Formats: sequence, C-alpha cells, structure tokens
Amino acid sequence: MKDRKGILLAGGSGTRLMPLTSSVNKHLLPIYDKPMIFYSLSILMLAGINEILIITRKEDLSLFNDLLGDGSRFGINLSYEVQDNPNGIAEAFLIGEKFIGKSDVCLMLGDNIFYGPDLETKLVQSSMKNHSTVFSYGVHDPERFGICEIDNDKRVISLEEKPVKPKSNLAVTGLYFYDSNAPQIAKNIKPSNRGELEITDVNIEYMKSQNLYSEVLDKSYMWIDAGTQESFLVA
Ligand code: TTP
Repeated sequence: MKDRKGILLAGGSGTRLMPLTSSVNKHLLPIYDKPMIFYSLSILMLAGINEILIITRKEDLSLFNDLLGDGSRFGINLSYEVQDNPNGIAEAFLIGEKFIGKSDVCLMLGDNIFYGPDLETKLVQSSMKNHSTVFSYGVHDPERFGICEIDNDKRVISLEEKPVKPKSNLAVTGLYFYDSNAPQIAKNIKPSNRGELEITDVNIEYMKSQNLYSEVLDKSYMWIDAGTQESFLVA
C-alpha cells in the first residue's frame, strides 16, 4: 500500500445553506441518518487511507472532536487543525504541510458525496497511482463548474473554471489525489480575484507538468456537492 495521507476539509462559510448554517457547521448537518462529514470521511476510508487530518473553523473544532474523536472507533487515526479564515481550498496544503510530510496526499471536500458500484476499487486504484488524479463527473450545466478536458489516456489537457464555451461536460469533483509536492505548489499560487487560494490553480500546475489524470465516474455513480439548498435536499 502506498504511503498516502488524507485531508478532510470541513471549514468554509456555508453561505449558500444559510440560515441552516448560521450557527451549525455545514458538515454537521444531517444527510438522512448521519452527519454530512461521515460520507466524505468514509470515502477516504474506502480509499484505504487511515491517517486523516480534519481542517475546520476554530469555533467548530470541539464539535468535530466530540463526534469523531481520535478515530480509533473507526480504526483510523484522526487529527485536527484550524483554518482561521476561509482563504480557499488550496490553503489545506499550507495548513497540512507538516502533516503531509513526504507522503502523497488525498484531499476530500467535506460536503461532497459519492455513491456507486465498486467505488472502493476505483478509489484504491487511484490511491496507488504515481500520478495525480482528479475525479470528474458528467454534468448538464458545465458553465457552473470547473471543467476538465481529457485525452484518450485520461490525461487532463485543459481545465477551466465556469467556462462560457465548455470543452467537455466533465466537472472536477471534490476528491483529489496528489503527490507530496502539493504544499510546495500551493505555496507558489496567488489568491484569485475572489481572494481565495484556488484548487483549480493547483490542478493547473499538475496539468502543466503532464501529471494530472482524470478518473471519470459514469452515470452508474452519483456525485453530489451538498452545499446548496437544492443539492442538500437531493442528498
Ligand atoms: P465551498 O462550497 O466552495 O464553500 P463554502 O463551504 O464556504 O460554502 P458557500 O460557498 O456556500 O459559502 O467549499 C467547498 C468545501 O470546502 C466545503 O466542504 C467547505 C470547504 N472549504 C473550507 O474548508 N475552507 C475554505 O476556505 C473553503 C473555500 C472551503
């Protein structure tokens, strides 16, 4: 098994789910019979990752600790770090730099939900690869997503955020497998116009070095980014 650590991102602002998220962290809201974070945590576990760092807001840290503890009851090792402000998804690699060390890393967004046949095999295979992998999913409204275009070998050849003229309908989801260079790459990117360290910019760097592939989840899988009122209801 490859030495790969997991980062689960559970901070952010949750503005699109207001007022549900006015006083409750989005990732603690119930999806059917479990808090939202259980679904993303289980994806990392299915990928065979058992060293996981949860990053969240200072005010919510004790809640996650109460819920999940040190992870021993799930047979995993959990640790926690605070993100002081929602400075963007790629900040996870700066906060988690020490935790990652020389390991490869998998980043999972805490509001993403995946479901489908034999997901475990796909996850474990991606985790074993020596290149970086994003998971992508065909959508009807590519103008709303980060969109990747791939060649016959599944190598990512273009990446665009909310394209006006999309080159494909493959949305980049919130599950990313990277090598141990991710913190170094995150250090070299600049905040975007909206003031965030964008995960797309990290992906673009990996793409430029021809080291980014996409694992396409077909329609037998379900992907939900549960961060809007509608998608939360669907979830
Ligand atoms: P988003 O859904 O992009 O942002 P958000 O959760 O703040 O919600 P909204 O846009 O409605 O205000 O975040 C995707 C995931 O990443 C989600 O699980 C929260 C997490 N996240 C962080 O933990 N820190 C951050 O700085 C950002 C931007 C997101």
